[in-house]
Amino acid sequence: MGVIDLRSDTVTLPSPEMRRFIHEAELGDDVYGEDPTINRLQARAAEMLGKEAALYVPSGTMGNVVAHLAWCQAGDEVICGQAAHTLNAEAANAARVAGTQLRTVPQEGASLDLAAIERTIRPDDPHYPRTTLIWVEQPSNGWVMPLEELTAISQLARARAIPVHMDGARIFNAATALGVPAAEIARHVDSVMFCVSKGLAAPVGSLLVGPGDFIGRAIRGRKMVGGSMRQAGVIAAGGLYALDHMVERLTEDHENARRLADGLRAQPGVAIDREDVQTNIFFIRLSPPAPDARTVSARLREHGLLCGAAKDGSPIIRLVTHYGIEREDIDRALEMFGEALRGERAADAPPTPTPEVTEIEVPPSPAPVGV
Ligand SMILES: Cc1ncc(COP(=O)(O)O)c(C=O)c1O
Repeated sequence: MGVIDLRSDTVTLPSPEMRRFIHEAELGDDVYGEDPTINRLQARAAEMLGKEAALYVPSGTMGNVVAHLAWCQAGDEVICGQAAHTLNAEAANAARVAGTQLRTVPQEGASLDLAAIERTIRPDDPHYPRTTLIWVEQPSNGWVMPLEELTAISQLARARAIPVHMDGARIFNAATALGVPAAEIARHVDSVMFCVSKGLAAPVGSLLVGPGDFIGRAIRGRKMVGGSMRQAGVIAAGGLYALDHMVERLTEDHENARRLADGLRAQPGVAIDREDVQTNIFFIRLSPPAPDARTVSARLREHGLLCGAAKDGSPIIRLVTHYGIEREDIDRALEMFGEALRGERAADAPPTPTPEVTEIEVPPSPAPVGV
């Protein structure tokens, strides 16, 4: 029996069919716009999200910083939620690379405080930076912003002529949870970044989608940060395969997440943060008699289960289901949790690939997270 890796959906590996598709991909020089596989991927991404154009980039982080570059001038202000990945987990690239200033509003789950966004938009005054972008994340740490809230943000932004960018790294998980096509989410915003390298299990890459003129500026931004690639169809092919074959199966990951959460809730000392498990990512909060998160995570590792434990010492563990994790793995994971929580040692644990507990950022919250 192998290791069950619930640290992240970024650990997914391409399926044998995806590997074959990659092997056979037609290639060309993408800087000349001549890589047929990239051209197909970009056209497919734009079509699926209902936007004019798309651009392939090596990572979600690059897609996001290119969005800053393409929408804003240095010195402009971007409004985002306090848990935004662009703020907390991209090495301050907005400030350092694009020169934008991030201004946060309170966030609860994926929801942003609409009144706070409205208050935070700067008036036209020479003392102030210009507010040139509103930034939403969907889903955010596994939580999904309801469409009505997104509509309200979009109406406010349109009334103030400010574009909205969505960090939709896992937009297809949000679409699955909401039961709508991804285009139904994307139509409320001007641009979206989404990743094919996470739950969709392609090895590399993300797409930036939006209006044609925005993508025109993004091509220059991607060049600036060194993201223009040549025969990159060899990596993009995985993304093209993923969009056609890996989206619908995300429901399995969500079902597995709920099954895991239901089983964990029944264990003493385990609560599920915010109760509802909406996508493939959720957090559990431990309290006595359960040991602390690092101890549980280290014990689970001995049993052959990998998960993320809060960096800041808070009693929180993150669990992520994904392609490659089957229903039987969830049942085994529940047994391992039971043993780890009771302090039992693993009898015949397989060797684990990582030497340490994997540390995760706990999403910031205006109120204490949890139940
Ligand atoms: C919400 C969100 N945005 C952006 C990224 C960055 O993606 P990448 O790791 O491809 O740079 C991640 C990565 O996990 C993410 O979760």
